[in-house]
Amino acid sequence: MTASSAWTDMSMLTDVQPQLAHNFPNWIYLLREFDSLYRYGSAGGSKLIRAHRKRVREATSRLLNTQTEWTTKDPLTKPVCVHLQRALDIAHQGPMASMARAVSNVMSELTWEYGYERLPAALAKKYAYCEIAGPRGPIRTNAVILGFVLFAPKTTYPQHSHRDIEESYISIGGAWSENDLAVHAPGSLILNHPGSAHRITTAEQEPCLLAYAWVGPEERLSVVDMRLSRPRRTPGG
Ligand SMILES: [Fe+2]
Repeated sequence: MTASSAWTDMSMLTDVQPQLAHNFPNWIYLLREFDSLYRYGSAGGSKLIRAHRKRVREATSRLLNTQTEWTTKDPLTKPVCVHLQRALDIAHQGPMASMARAVSNVMSELTWEYGYERLPAALAKKYAYCEIAGPRGPIRTNAVILGFVLFAPKTTYPQHSHRDIEESYISIGGAWSENDLAVHAPGSLILNHPGSAHRITTAEQEPCLLAYAWVGPEERLSVVDMRLSRPRRTPGG
């Protein structure tokens, strides 16, 4: 074997080796922050929330303790990203400061997406999400999706639901409300049961960054199936 063919063979070998998430320490630190959120926070006495938290942290600890694959994704921004630094600044003032620092360290590498084939133009300026772990990566798993959703000030995210998916949001920075029921501050968690309709509004003058976790059947997690519910007809509408 010549030196050049040996080099070619070696490079082909390198190409087929999967990248490992542990080669990207800032992302592993971010994953650890997620693990801490679901490990050490309170369930507020709710058995269902406790069970959800357990499902998420079982998935995160598997990712942290095994040879987890990594998928490189191109960084992408969306118009709402101009508000990210402000949302992190707010987070730095509260209990989510450690998470905010971990997000800052990967900020330029995040892939911000919409997830909908059709999105109202007004919402396209005020919302986007990015995935940290899931079937599409960058940290590869079929057991959970972890990510962030960012909202501009004065946003209404229309009513939607997720079939077979259990979803939790944890406030990182900024205040927001769901279904007009309460105001959630940094550190608080809300659980949306599979299929339950929810509509989000954010504060008048400040953006809002939420961490989220989805757990559900693998086949549902691997397909992006985001749909806004049809607006309810108002009487006479
Ligand atoms: Fe949702």
